[in-house]
Amino acid sequence: MNNNVIWQNTKITRHMREQQNGHKSFILWFTGLSGSGKSTLAHSVEEVLFLRGCKTYVFDGDNVRHGLCADLGFSASDRAENIRRIGETSKLFADAGGIAITAFISPFRHDRDIIRASVDAKDFIEIYCHVSLETCEQRDPKGLYQKARQGEISEFTGISSPYEPPLGPEITVMTGEKSVEFCTCQIISYLEDTGRICQPKL
Ligand code: ADX
Repeated sequence: MNNNVIWQNTKITRHMREQQNGHKSFILWFTGLSGSGKSTLAHSVEEVLFLRGCKTYVFDGDNVRHGLCADLGFSASDRAENIRRIGETSKLFADAGGIAITAFISPFRHDRDIIRASVDAKDFIEIYCHVSLETCEQRDPKGLYQKARQGEISEFTGISSPYEPPLGPEITVMTGEKSVEFCTCQIISYLEDTGRICQPKL
């Protein structure tokens, strides 16, 4: 970065925005194989939070790759840049007082840990969608595993490119065994129990 670029402090702070919104801002980072349920769960969690009045947005891998990251492929360096951009975008969104929910394979531990290390510990909640490759391949909702097996897609995560599970995720959801509702409740309970959001008023 150029030495002549100086950080500008803001008049309206993140804390003021959080107070106005009535909840903390943070990043919910979903990671897991393609077909592991990241997007489904991210949108399900968002719906619960939204209906409780929280300011939320889901950054979804496939969608972001249509615009912000349309110039990137699936090499290790392109994936690193993809995750860097989403990490930075999520940090801005959290700074704006919102709950950034991201659903990217983000297969490399190092890339995820760079984002974790660049924010306060309380701001980054890593959610590992734990499910076997066999189950993802059976589901194959987009037919991509079949194409990857046939050699039509190179560097496909789980087949010809590695996936490194998190070593210390804040939450692990067993998306191969448990329902979307169960996993959603697990995540919402974590957010309530850690004071990120309030219990709903009865
Ligand atoms: S990441 O590895 O850089 O985090 P990202 O989540 O943005 O990946 O995109 C993954 C989505 O792109 C998958 O859900 C799938 O639909 C599609 N895709 C296309 N090619 C590949 C590939 N080689 N590996 C994994 N996903 C791919």
